[in-house]
Amino acid sequence: MEEKESVLKFHTRRWIKPEDLNPNGSLFGGSLLKWIDEEAVIYAIIQLENPKVVTRHMSEINFLSSAKQGDIIELGIVATNFGRTSLTLRCEVRNKLTQQPILNIDKIVFVNLNEQGEPAPHGKTEITYVKDRIANR
Ligand SMILES: CC(C)(COP(=O)(O)OP(=O)(O)OC[C@H]1O[C@@H](n2cnc3c(N)ncnc32)[C@H](O)[C@@H]1OP(=O)(O)O)[C@@H](O)C(=O)NCCC(=O)NCCS
Repeated sequence: MEEKESVLKFHTRRWIKPEDLNPNGSLFGGSLLKWIDEEAVIYAIIQLENPKVVTRHMSEINFLSSAKQGDIIELGIVATNFGRTSLTLRCEVRNKLTQQPILNIDKIVFVNLNEQGEPAPHGKTEITYVKDRIANR
């Protein structure tokens, strides 16, 4: 499927606490990547309607600016490509109050698996919403 220009959805906010900091006193990259990984897999599970999805590939990660204790940040994810067995997402993190960009990842690729843990076609071609699926039942 053609890659589309899509709008990021910022669902999750985090309040940066002392345990999220590196020894220099700014946000630890490992903490941020853990939050992104969870946010992205939740997004992929919802879109593909399958809890058996795994991360296959992550493109370059750009740390654009740092965050400090007390900052509120928000994580944005959008699906940019529905493949046969894969789903590609784009991610941006920014400061909630200033909107300053903190990080971006152009491509996070998930693969839809079957019960045997093998790549399986997911049959999805575009972003769908749970509320519409329920309304259309
Ligand atoms: C996920 C896994 C089962 C896929 O097996 P595989 O033999 O690599 O599968 P394929 O080569 O058929 O690729 C599957 C899909 O990923 C895509 N893909 C593979 N490598 C890619 C890459 N480097 N960049 C972008 N897409 C990629 C393929 O294009 C294909 O997508 P499509 O079906 O939509 O065209 C296997 O690689 C694996 O188990 N990896 C480890 C996953 C993991 O443990 N992740 C961390 C924890 S979640």
